[in-house]
Amino acid sequence: MDINFSLIWDALPLLLAGAGITIEITALSVGFGLLIGMTVGIARLASIKPVRYFANCYVDFIRGTPLLVQIFLVYFALPGIIGHRVDPYFAAISACSINSGAYIAEIFRAGIQSIDNGQMEAGRSLGMSWAQTMRYVIMPQAFKRIIPPLGNEFIAMLKDSSLVSVIGFEELTRRGQLIIARTYASFEIWMAVAVIYLIMTFTVARLVGMLERRYDTK
Ligand code: ARG
Repeated sequence: MDINFSLIWDALPLLLAGAGITIEITALSVGFGLLIGMTVGIARLASIKPVRYFANCYVDFIRGTPLLVQIFLVYFALPGIIGHRVDPYFAAISACSINSGAYIAEIFRAGIQSIDNGQMEAGRSLGMSWAQTMRYVIMPQAFKRIIPPLGNEFIAMLKDSSLVSVIGFEELTRRGQLIIARTYASFEIWMAVAVIYLIMTFTVARLVGMLERRYDTK
């Protein structure tokens, strides 16, 4: 089989621009996911029952349904309720953020629970409030431990963001499909797309490794 390298070369600018969009969706989704996840992760540990209940329902629903279906829900089902169409960019970012939030909530919950109860008791007995102890005693210790799983979530989202190609959002995978529709060069383009994903995930893994060493996670 002949591999047409010039085709890959020609497609590269478009694919790289798509990769930039993939990074953008991932960074925004994990960024919003962090805000949602921290809140929901703490809510799952709350002593108030309804708070815990809603947080559990959210995590169960999101983890129990495919991201692909969640994207369809936001893009195709939501317009029926709100009465106008949803922008693909908004649908992509919100579905991925809500999805990532549930996974990150579990990361936070596990991180917080891994800190010995005595730390909370010590903070409280020094006169700190629950929130202060959480902020100044528990979270800094938990943070070190959640760096590796957070890195994992970022890498997972980087790859899973390819699912937003189904609503026509032009990230890396969708760009690959569109170029193949024009050139029929399935092998060359899918290989190039795979290599670009690999370079991105590999780089993120190295960066997370550096962060881990910096915070000396044990
Ligand atoms: N592939 C899984 C799904 O379809 C997970 C998607 C999201 N992954 C993530 N790490 N947030 O539900």
